[in-house]
Amino acid sequence: DGFAGGRLFNQGYSYTYDDVIFLPHYIDFPTESVQLATRLSRNVPLSIPCVSSPMDTVTESHMAAAMAALGGVGIVHSNLNPADQAALVRSAKARKVPILSSPVFASPSGRIESEEDFSSSPYVLVTESGAARSKLLGYVAKADWVALPNKEVKIYDYMVKSSSSDLVVPWDYDLERIGWHLEEKKRDVVAMVKDDEVVDLVTKKEVERIKGYPKLGVGSVGPDGKWIVGAAAGTRDQDKERLEHLVKAGINVVVLDSSQGNSIYQIEMIKFIKLTYPELDVVGGNVVTMSQARNLIHAGVDGLRVGMGSGSICTTQEVCAVGRGQATAVYKVASVASQSGVPVIADGGISNSGHIVKALVLGASTVMMGSFLAGSTEAPGAYEYQNGRRVKKYRGMGSLEAMTKGSDARYLGDKAKLKIAQGVVGAVADKGSVLKFIPYTMQAVKQGFQDLGASSLQSAHDLLRSEVLRLEVRTGAAQVEGGIHGLVSYEKKSF
Ligand code: XMP
Repeated sequence: DGFAGGRLFNQGYSYTYDDVIFLPHYIDFPTESVQLATRLSRNVPLSIPCVSSPMDTVTESHMAAAMAALGGVGIVHSNLNPADQAALVRSAKARKVPILSSPVFASPSGRIESEEDFSSSPYVLVTESGAARSKLLGYVAKADWVALPNKEVKIYDYMVKSSSSDLVVPWDYDLERIGWHLEEKKRDVVAMVKDDEVVDLVTKKEVERIKGYPKLGVGSVGPDGKWIVGAAAGTRDQDKERLEHLVKAGINVVVLDSSQGNSIYQIEMIKFIKLTYPELDVVGGNVVTMSQARNLIHAGVDGLRVGMGSGSICTTQEVCAVGRGQATAVYKVASVASQSGVPVIADGGISNSGHIVKALVLGASTVMMGSFLAGSTEAPGAYEYQNGRRVKKYRGMGSLEAMTKGSDARYLGDKAKLKIAQGVVGAVADKGSVLKFIPYTMQAVKQGFQDLGASSLQSAHDLLRSEVLRLEVRTGAAQVEGGIHGLVSYEKKSF
């Protein structure tokens, strides 16, 4: 019944996730026993197969910390200078709890000039040096500053002083302990300190927000005891300097960001990284064919990123006539990569949990997501309203707008005088926090695995390769039937 993967994907068609459907198999275990533990790359273990894209509207420090807290990983984008990218990595790794905080610092002898100083945080932290990683002296709440009759006074004269230990907790306290501390001391805010220096600020509101979400597991913690965080880099000479900054900041993996990864530039960069930083995992890509994959595996990659033109904001296939349907690409590349033990990242084109199941069963070890995570509380950028809907900006890194900030190297256009876009700028709906919708999505993925009789990623891969799992192509009408249809109106709520 149905087709084996080998037969279905060898007919000369480029299939994407929606084109194919698995036939159900036999269930002999409960959903809870499905294990989604996996690897991003050879030496980077994860407890869920989710990776956030290195895009400037998807992954900065808040997203990277939240993805790691969930058991996945975030790849910090490289559309900014190396020192700033390294600072985002440090900031993600300095957190133990996935709170949203952008603390503002001031020195006691300074003055707060305007309400603007509170634009990213309702509190200004006062430290000896006036910056982070310095001894905490006190804080100023926005409400206290607003109520101040004379705004000319020095901060020292009206700040809440930190002579007591009420104001601080150790940086590695978990949410529960921070919550108890705030409750016991009747405070709205507490600073997190490491070696007597402030590293972060936590508000009661943030603790309560996160408490309302599904309980977090252990998260992705690296050998340094901090969150596992990845970062993107290019393949030009100046990227070697970027890499140095990133390695110093403690990245666990570097992702070479290129839309066509099978190039002499990338192969040389992979060899350089393996020689210079033997401890650092390097993910190569993007690739969509078996021969591209073989070349990068031969050069020494620890992981392969798969997808060309499958992303929601991509125009590469239209502009360059090159790419592949994502289901075919994942299946083909994984069939080569699995022989060398190189994990595959299915990058782009994920818009529901079914796509994640398909990517993983077809051979991927993780899925990399842009639009699925953009628009979340943790994505960079502010919410705005479009036709009454709350949205956040989401843009392709090959869009003209993003390329003016430097991402053109990914599309090999940095030296070209005439810039051609391979992506668009758009907006996606507010999705709430990844801390809420990713656990629900993983539960849906587990149910898909259960229907297929696969209790883990490895067992899914084995069932597919041994031709026990069968699949078919869906006609256009079958795809319509497989979606919601025939209703006058409906409300779609998944959880
Ligand atoms: P999704 O579908 O998750 O895709 O939104 C995210 C992935 O798309 C890739 N990407 C691009 N591809 N032009 C492209 O052709 C672009 O401007 C662009 N920006 C991102 C990237 O692989 C990302 O992970």
